[in-house]
Amino acid sequence: MANQIPEEVIEEVRKSNDIVDVIGEYVQLKKQGRNFFGLCPFHGEKTPSFSVSQEKQIFHCFGCGKGGNAITFLMEMESYSFIETIKYLANRSGINLPDIGSERESPLSKENQNILSAYEWLTKLYHHLIRFTKEGKEGLHYLKDRGISEQAIDDFQLGFAPNSKIFTAEFLKQKGFNQALLVQSGLLSLQNDNSVTDRFRGRIIFPIRNHLGKTIAFGGRLISEGEPKYLNSAESELFQKGKVLYNFDLAKKHIRRENEVILFEGYMDVISAYQAGINNVIATLGTALTDYQAKLLNRYVDTVVICYDGDRAGLEATYKAANLLRKVGCQVKISNLRENLDPDSFIKAYGGKAFKKEIIDTSDTYISFYMRYRKKDFNLSLEGDRIQYIEDVIKEISLINSSVEREYYLKDLHKEYNISMESLNEEVEAQRNKQGYYHKKDNTDKNRNTNRAASYRSNHNLLPAYQNAERKLLSYMIQDSFIADKVQEEIGAGFNIDAHKILATHLYAFYEEGHSSDVSLFIEKLEDHDLKKLVTEIAMLPFSDEISDKEINDYIRMIQAQKNDYVNIQSLKEQQRVAEQQKDPIKAAQIAMQIIELKKQIKGTT
Ligand code: GTP
Ligand code: MN
Repeated sequence: MANQIPEEVIEEVRKSNDIVDVIGEYVQLKKQGRNFFGLCPFHGEKTPSFSVSQEKQIFHCFGCGKGGNAITFLMEMESYSFIETIKYLANRSGINLPDIGSERESPLSKENQNILSAYEWLTKLYHHLIRFTKEGKEGLHYLKDRGISEQAIDDFQLGFAPNSKIFTAEFLKQKGFNQALLVQSGLLSLQNDNSVTDRFRGRIIFPIRNHLGKTIAFGGRLISEGEPKYLNSAESELFQKGKVLYNFDLAKKHIRRENEVILFEGYMDVISAYQAGINNVIATLGTALTDYQAKLLNRYVDTVVICYDGDRAGLEATYKAANLLRKVGCQVKISNLRENLDPDSFIKAYGGKAFKKEIIDTSDTYISFYMRYRKKDFNLSLEGDRIQYIEDVIKEISLINSSVEREYYLKDLHKEYNISMESLNEEVEAQRNKQGYYHKKDNTDKNRNTNRAASYRSNHNLLPAYQNAERKLLSYMIQDSFIADKVQEEIGAGFNIDAHKILATHLYAFYEEGHSSDVSLFIEKLEDHDLKKLVTEIAMLPFSDEISDKEINDYIRMIQAQKNDYVNIQSLKEQQRVAEQQKDPIKAAQIAMQIIELKKQIKGTT
């Protein structure tokens, strides 16, 4: 791999970044036996088949087959080049890289790099204005009035764009940015007379950061009355509202720690909560939650607390978001804000502690929310409506798999509407029969961390014995150079499966270069994608610390026997062909029997 960073430094970077931590920033990993499991970030799935081995410092997905080490993970995940990955990891673990010149093989186009750079400049400029200058004073007053602390202004890099036509345009021009590009990216606006003016004027600037903390867009809020209240950067290749979550970069580690995320509607809600010490908070960008965002969250947490405004629109949005999240496998809880309060105003009025205790910790389950939500469509003082409402709720309750939980909600209905538990239970049973739910799998996803990966693995037991022997042997060879030496002496690259031959050849070369056994490094050196996959898959095979010579020898023998069988069958087939040519059907039939017999024997050993 061509690069200008010395091998030792790369080695140091690799050693100081544990794969579980690196991947843990993208996937919620749970330990199970020796390995960690989570939802694969490379393909959509509801049950975890993505595994990470801390001992071996590699990952492998039994679902889609992707695998590698921490470096290849980041290269894949972030479309980083090798050098960029090393830079990122060095930075992450506080290692100083030697100056490696201006070499940049960014996955971004030159234009996009320029746009990001413009955002970086402007974020700093607007933030500076609001913190330290008279141009930003009115912005600062506005935020102070709303109870935002200087600390929060710094944490969120909040800023102020002055109400001037060309303040920003001039600034960027001086910095040498191409105006057409800035217009195209929505930072500046093109007027009818072809002049270029600032897009954000007289607005508080909320930098919208991607998951790596880079500003990719702005949200701007007017500090005076007017329309639109909020203005976002236009969508572009770099900024797609439906794929970003506000504050995800800062919230990530808190989300993981709490195994819970609080989802808000507004930037101000996030900032209020964050400065009140509730840090696992994010928001959508003024649009409904998307499938993409729901899946992203599902990779990080089990539970999403939806905390939208208490008004009608908030209720509708909650219903949609809750169902989307449930569909992708999240547990949802729904906070119950009183009418006309939004999270920000609640926190301002009663403080963060009260918010946590009275709103977040007392969130409703989905069903309780549903009961509340559905009420709005009925006039419950009318008997007909009441019955309809109850039937509707029962339908939802009957979808719950836990009978204890069902009972809990039925009791609610029983108490509130004075219907006997008996008839409620009957109704639920009828519903469940109708929906065929008795036969369906638990779709509430409570068991999402059951060992799916293990069942993938056991599929390999269906492979012929010699193939399993080859895989096992290779897995030991990867972990132990002495075993590799022994195998090399006895059979060289004489495996039956071509891919195994190739793998063995690479492995011998790797050891011959003087490396000791190191799966992660070995994978990194391989260039072929399929081969990388194969190595991680094999290296992930469960293996015992103690392996006897006998076991190794058995594997070798099995591999050789298969080879011989193969040779024998080929030669019998040839004899059969000759017999047929010589018009000797009896001999040909005898040989055919021999072949069948031999094949049976081989099968018998599997
Ligand atoms: P404040 O009034 O500053 O407290 O804002 P808020 O967060 O309470 O606003 P609201 O609940 O009205 O809206 C929630 C989110 O929707 C905001 O954070 C914005 O992302 C977005 N939003 C609100 N109004 C507009 C608008 O006029 N245009 C756009 N594009 N987005 C908006
Ligand atoms: Mn608000």
